[in-house]
Amino acid sequence: MIKSEIVGYSQAFVEKRTDWTDEIFSLRLTGASLKFKAGQFTKLALLDEQGELISRAYSLVNAPLMTSDVLEFLLISNSDGKLSPRLHQLKVGDGLYVGESAHGDLIFDTIPKSSTNLWLLSTGTGIGPFLSLLDDLNFRPNCDKVVLVHGVRHQADLVYHYLIEQLIEQYEGRLVYIPIVSREIKQGALHGRIPQLIDEGQLMDAAGVNFDPEGSFVMLCGNPAMIKDTTKSLLNQGLSRFRHAVGGNIVYERYW
Ligand SMILES: Cc1cc2nc3c(=O)[nH]c(=O)nc-3n(C[C@H](O)[C@H](O)[C@H](O)COP(=O)(O)OP(=O)(O)OC[C@H]3O[C@@H](n4cnc5c(N)ncnc54)[C@H](O)[C@@H]3O)c2cc1C
Ligand SMILES: NC(=O)c1ccc[n+]([C@@H]2O[C@H](COP(=O)([O-])OP(=O)(O)OC[C@H]3O[C@@H](n4cnc5c(N)ncnc54)[C@H](OP(=O)(O)O)[C@@H]3O)[C@@H](O)[C@H]2O)c1
Repeated sequence: MIKSEIVGYSQAFVEKRTDWTDEIFSLRLTGASLKFKAGQFTKLALLDEQGELISRAYSLVNAPLMTSDVLEFLLISNSDGKLSPRLHQLKVGDGLYVGESAHGDLIFDTIPKSSTNLWLLSTGTGIGPFLSLLDDLNFRPNCDKVVLVHGVRHQADLVYHYLIEQLIEQYEGRLVYIPIVSREIKQGALHGRIPQLIDEGQLMDAAGVNFDPEGSFVMLCGNPAMIKDTTKSLLNQGLSRFRHAVGGNIVYERYW
């Protein structure tokens, strides 16, 4: 259900949807004009049967484009949830609301210019803001090495392969992509969970670079338990939480 004017939101329409699995999907929207930085999130919303607005935060997957109002999002439908199953039912041409502002620290400006290696550690839909960040032609992280890590349950959850392939080419050897599958064995992917793979050194071996307090900057996004456990592992590697005033190595965005 959608009616025209909601304060703080503009109306958008589904231009395209991609179904990666039965639950994981992407929506490409047009019609809303949103100013955002690559890596940020905004709100998506719908009205329920009572006319109440149900609104949740979602990260942009694309980088801002000068010439188009396209906004792309990667979502998972949580069957017990209030909003995501409704978003999952949207078809091409259907309307929804998009917040008029964007927020979040997983952006180019946060990365210290002195960083020599940038680690983008994600689980599930948490890869979205990192794809946006990497795809921004105007603000490419200038580090010697960028490591994009995506931890998922099943190999079918490893989304946006074509875009990642393109990015690997564009970064000319500076971008390493490490898929991790926890509930299946997949050739070419690590098996297990991010913190365990850091503790055992397998992640650094696969990346070809170690964590170090001087040169590493680490962004984490997705499952809050992953963020908690991974932060512990990174602290054990000598890194520290990032604070704008004092610096440090670790920033994160929890999805729930
Ligand atoms: C800053 C921020 C950015 C976000 N960006 C995204 C995004 O790009 N894509 C996205 O799918 N979700 C994202 N989320 C989560 C999203 O806002 C909703 O919480 C999610 O869609 C569930 O909403 P719901 O109303 O269906 O379920 P609710 O009734 O709100 O139930 C929430 C429960 O769903 C589960 N859950 C929530 N989000 C996820 C998720 N992403 N993956 C797996 N399980 C989840 C958790 O168990 C949580 O307790 C983001 C959240 C935050 C805070
Ligand atoms: N992905 C699916 O196929 C699927 C299907 C149906 C429904 N759902 C629902 O969607 C929601 C979650 O979906 P999701 O698979 O995108 O996200 P998720 O549960 O966060 O799993 C993504 C990855 O994060 C890992 N992980 C979980 N806790 C961790 C921790 N403490 N430290 C490090 N890694 C950790 C998982 O490993 P483990 O596998 O070891 O937990 C998995 O590899 C759930 O509500 C689920 O029931 C998902």
